[in-house]
Amino acid sequence: MLESNLAALPRPSSLPEWLRAELRSDHAGETGAVWLYIGILRWSRNPEVIAFATEHLETERRHLGHFEAWLSAKDKSMLTPLWRLAGFILGSLAVFGGAHVVYLTIEVVETFVIEHYRQQIEKLDQQRAHPEVAETLRQFMQDEAEHCHDAAGRHAIPDAFSVQCWRSIVTIGSEMAVTVAKKL
Ligand SMILES: [Fe+2]
Ligand SMILES: [Fe+2]
Repeated sequence: MLESNLAALPRPSSLPEWLRAELRSDHAGETGAVWLYIGILRWSRNPEVIAFATEHLETERRHLGHFEAWLSAKDKSMLTPLWRLAGFILGSLAVFGGAHVVYLTIEVVETFVIEHYRQQIEKLDQQRAHPEVAETLRQFMQDEAEHCHDAAGRHAIPDAFSVQCWRSIVTIGSEMAVTVAKKL
């Protein structure tokens, strides 16, 4: 599916600057997602978490592989090692919080990613520009929505103050990463 999609996509150098910046942040985000699941799988001994992370990781590798193949080096973030490290650390921290914190963390991250993709798709739709790019992002957003739904259905954490703090930390961290990745 993605291979045929790739052939239909425009060269990134032909895209407007705002969209190239967004795609740079998308590549960074998918890098972080892959390493988030690698971090979870590095430490978790819970069979359900391992099965969950293994399945999600496969999708994230596909998303990342798409951006890797499509974008040239200059259209990727120069801080890619940092996004790998950040994802790995977040996944590791989540595991040490227990299975429910893993699922909560994925729910929060995916909620952020869905909104990130949604804004790009909406802008493309409004401008009636690059529908093939919008369609690709829409497919990825649907995958992220499935991940979010899957994670949300697995944890039963009440919305305590500590949970709200964790949600804020993960969301603000994701926002900061996107802001930086759009520029560098
Ligand atoms: Fe993804
Ligand atoms: Fe995802």
